[in-house]
Amino acid sequence: MRIKVIDHPILRQKMSLMREIKTPPPLFRQLVREISGLLAYEAAQEIAFTKIQLETPMGKTEGLAIAKPYPLVVPILRAGLGMLEGVLDVVPVAEVGFLGIARDEETLMPVTYANRLPDSLAGRHVILIDPMLATGGTLNDSIDYVKSRGAQKVTCICMLGAPEGIKKVQDHITKNWDPQDFSIYLGALDEKLNEVGYIVPGLGDAGDRMYGLAK
Ligand code: URA
Repeated sequence: MRIKVIDHPILRQKMSLMREIKTPPPLFRQLVREISGLLAYEAAQEIAFTKIQLETPMGKTEGLAIAKPYPLVVPILRAGLGMLEGVLDVVPVAEVGFLGIARDEETLMPVTYANRLPDSLAGRHVILIDPMLATGGTLNDSIDYVKSRGAQKVTCICMLGAPEGIKKVQDHITKNWDPQDFSIYLGALDEKLNEVGYIVPGLGDAGDRMYGLAK
């Protein structure tokens, strides 16, 4: 299992502006898109490519194309939606599925409240996108969901991660799946979770900051 925290001054600069409490939703959304593109550029190293022959105006040469079946990008609702366009800017041929997973507060079991994915994901490379890897609960449930439908390889792209959540996801994958099939790309590794599961210093509630308070 590969865990990569991307370290680049442009990424840090954009993340700083995004975290800032005074950044309004339109700029916040724009930054989420740009940051997602930068992270997707790095995570694209996980994608399968195939060699192709092509002809330029000057002659024949060899190039690369994304292998089929194309990766399936799955934003985890709701905040994952904000990352989608940035990822598609980098991998426009990707297919897109949608997944909404929440915990039933009584049973603590994962409940899938929205699902628009192919019935079979056999052999597919699934790219899960969710801005905040906080407790790791939703990501673990999403991983189980796509793996149990046959996904072969899973790449997770998150803007921010907390050490507690990353450990939980790592332990879960190691216990239940082949870790070789997994990678996680992060824009920053933050300090900790607070007592209600928010990332510190973080950026607050990513969905609220993108779309306003839906409460
Ligand atoms: N989800 C968020 O939007 N923010 C956090 O800090 C943790 C989970």
